[in-house]
Amino acid sequence: MVEETRLSVKDFILPLFLLDGKNQQIEVNSMPGIYRFSTDLLLKEIETCMNLGIRAFDIFPAYPESKKDKTATESFNPDTFYLKAIESVKKYFPEACVMTDVAMDPYSSDGHDGLVLDGKILNDETLEILGKMAIAQAQAGADILGPSDMMDGRVGYIRTVLDEHGYKDVSIMSYTAKYASAFYNPFRDALDSAPKAGDKKTYQMDPANAKEALIEAELDYQEGADFLMVKPALAYLDIIKLLKDNHTLPIAAYNVSGEYAMIKASAANGWLDGERAMLESLLSIKRAGASVILSYFAKEFAYLQQQSQ
Ligand code: PBG
Repeated sequence: MVEETRLSVKDFILPLFLLDGKNQQIEVNSMPGIYRFSTDLLLKEIETCMNLGIRAFDIFPAYPESKKDKTATESFNPDTFYLKAIESVKKYFPEACVMTDVAMDPYSSDGHDGLVLDGKILNDETLEILGKMAIAQAQAGADILGPSDMMDGRVGYIRTVLDEHGYKDVSIMSYTAKYASAFYNPFRDALDSAPKAGDKKTYQMDPANAKEALIEAELDYQEGADFLMVKPALAYLDIIKLLKDNHTLPIAAYNVSGEYAMIKASAANGWLDGERAMLESLLSIKRAGASVILSYFAKEFAYLQQQSQ
């Protein structure tokens, strides 16, 4: 009765990795229990998760090198497997909330979220590519777009092109405060999307900065974001609280791949009770102020909750 914070399966968005082909399910080395699914098996996974009460999914594609180029052309090819998979998910599970990722890295031969010229990221030229990607994803049926690219001005740019193309009901969950973090490596393994040169520090945020998150949040709000996201979650609980206290938009937090891998690795060694560490971490993210939690633990949490009922 006196618990101030309670987790619910409804708080979660489950990130899922997709690959091309049929009948494929390949575990991510650094993320035990997490798979890259081909579309047919992704649909089965979504069905299982929906039966557990999970309602929202964030789908990320893994592309082979042969499909990557400088300008991420494959990202807005209407026949590409990622967009086709989104169409299928919405066709078979119209009540599922489908979030997609807007950034160049899965399709970029440079492995960066933006367009690279002479080792530099071209912010404004990237916006045009992100705009095409956003329209293609909205057309495929995405409910929420997640610009994870961190270019300046992209939320406003994407909002404008979506509205112009009649997608006024598609929401934007902005990666508002996305830090240049060491905790993304397992995700880059999952998608083979690590930068080929340099790092992401010119567009992702400096872990030393909190006030800068307030500036980013204000810009995203002004530009038309529907949610503000903080990423990673556990090393940035203060940022979640800061945005919660200063903004009225819903706050999302991304409990990222490295946070998942840390708990799984130590639990596998018997150094931590993995289940308790998971629950405590997720609870702390909600207690800090996140009302939406993107987490690879969502399915495990949902199982546990079902068992305890
Ligand atoms: C890239 C993107 C990343 C994640 C989501 N979108 C990695 C990066 O910025 O390099 C990380 C998610 C995770 O680690 O779970 N657009």
